[in-house]
Amino acid sequence: MRVITTIQEMVAERSSCASSKKVGVVLTMGYLHQGHLSLVRHARKENEILTASIFVNPTQFGPHEDLASYPRDLPHDLNVLENLGVDIVFVPTTDEIYPPDFVTYVDPTGPLASEAEGAFRPGHFRGVATVVVKLFQIMLPHQAYFGQKDAQQAAIISHMVSDFNLPVKLHILSTIREADGLAMSSRNAYLNPQERAAATVLYRALQAGRLQFNAHSHAEASLVVRAMVDTVGTEPHVHLDYAQVRDPDSFAQLEVLRAPALLLIAARVGPARLIDNFLLRADGSWDIGILVNV
Ligand code: PAJ
Repeated sequence: MRVITTIQEMVAERSSCASSKKVGVVLTMGYLHQGHLSLVRHARKENEILTASIFVNPTQFGPHEDLASYPRDLPHDLNVLENLGVDIVFVPTTDEIYPPDFVTYVDPTGPLASEAEGAFRPGHFRGVATVVVKLFQIMLPHQAYFGQKDAQQAAIISHMVSDFNLPVKLHILSTIREADGLAMSSRNAYLNPQERAAATVLYRALQAGRLQFNAHSHAEASLVVRAMVDTVGTEPHVHLDYAQVRDPDSFAQLEVLRAPALLLIAARVGPARLIDNFLLRADGSWDIGILVNV
């Protein structure tokens, strides 16, 4: 596995790949867990050359967010990527991605960028879109793999690919969960044992919302929201930011229940801010993610 830290070397390495070979990429901020690794495993099967990036992107963190404390473990990350057969890992420094003369940002607009996570994290999706387009330009993947766990990020990147005619095929893969339902996240490392136990309420709230959804098709979406809010209310250590039902593509809020739909939840648990979702596809099947034993 080649570990590359400069844009110049990455561009050279990428241009030396035979043009007939299919190149896949998994973009990450590191501190890799089974959610990331599921993307890597899928991508490994579908590409001749597999690339990955590890970059904690400062522009997607707000001024009072956890950039400084974001967990990092580069030796562990490189070891697991190598074991999964990744060919090239790009690990740039902040100065490499954002040199002092950097001035251009990609700024998604509309409800998709300003509501739900966008309302709680102003500027977050501008940082995400900017770094993703930049990494795509440097790494030139044919296919890129993202997690459904970050549903709004996936929708924004998919609109950006279409809006800018980027020649990348996107794959959005199911959320990987711990055995008790907690969605895997690098930020779970912030939780003490009591908070870790309480954090399962996000999954339980989504399940309660899904039951209401299934029992009352075409009813008011507020029924589902109430079920989610009431469930989170049973955990005094968990502070809800929002529980919503939205269209998975436009992120317009749904008034009346129908497929496709996204049940979204975001809450603060101790020092961690966690997000999760269930997706009801247009064909009526639910993607609630995959529970794994680790
Ligand atoms: P990060 O949080 O490290 O996540 C990297 C990728 O892993 C994203 O596509 C994310 O959706 C996916 N992922 C995270 N947890 C997952 C889980 N439990 N199951 C399945 N997939 C999961 O998302 C980012 O980094 C950044 O915003 C990035 C896209 C790299 C841009 O900086």
